[in-house]
Amino acid sequence: MSETKQISVQKSAEAAAAKAAELFRETIRQAVQQRGRCAIALAGGTTPRLMYQRLADEAVVDRVPWGQVDLFFGDERDVPQDDVESNFGVAQKMMLDHLPIDWERVHPMRADADDLDSASDEYEQIIRRVVPAGPDGIPQFDLVMLGMGGDGHTASLFPDSPILGEGKRLVVACHVPVLGRNRMTMTFPLINASRHIVMLVTGDDKAGVVERVIRQEDQSLPAARVYPVRGTLHYVLDTAAARLL
Ligand code: 6PG
Repeated sequence: MSETKQISVQKSAEAAAAKAAELFRETIRQAVQQRGRCAIALAGGTTPRLMYQRLADEAVVDRVPWGQVDLFFGDERDVPQDDVESNFGVAQKMMLDHLPIDWERVHPMRADADDLDSASDEYEQIIRRVVPAGPDGIPQFDLVMLGMGGDGHTASLFPDSPILGEGKRLVVACHVPVLGRNRMTMTFPLINASRHIVMLVTGDDKAGVVERVIRQEDQSLPAARVYPVRGTLHYVLDTAAARLL
């Protein structure tokens, strides 16, 4: 693997979650030490839950300056924040409610807004206001957490979606035909501007798509188009998901 691309394969989903939690904490400590703040975008789906649990359980001893973290979301479903499907709701219940964070610095996506396009634009403006821009003028997150769907999607960037080619907007609303639902999602220009990207993928059902993304770099799969312009990409896998590598 190159300097910019790393792979960690852990013996179980729990060990992969622990590795991701360690990277998560270390990124915050380093960013706050160097720049006095840390901007993070959380992933959705079910995989991050073990990592959230880990971060919450170890908050009392982790020496992490949680109060200096600006927390965003990589994507969100078109449901209220207290819905079981809400990426924010899951993060809040499993992690945020148990951390000494500054709630003023937590920014949920309003993906259940009536006007999703305006809500996406507003979210992009919050990011532009809060997250310092990198050399190319794009807000530069310290860490973007991502998952990988069985069809190779990541965030809410699905195969064959017209937003895969979005080159200007940083946050967009989209309809996902395969789900029959609307989503709000960060786009590749914003994701790939991040200092660090961690893609946490576990489970035997992901082995095929992991091989296509990591070994084949199959560009028909959105997850294979995650590539930091000047940062690092760290795949954190369990042995089941890495089975075909
Ligand atoms: C979402 C996520 C999505 C997720 C993958 C993997 O809102 O669903 O952003 O990209 O990371 O679908 O989901 P699982 O972790 O549930 O397998």
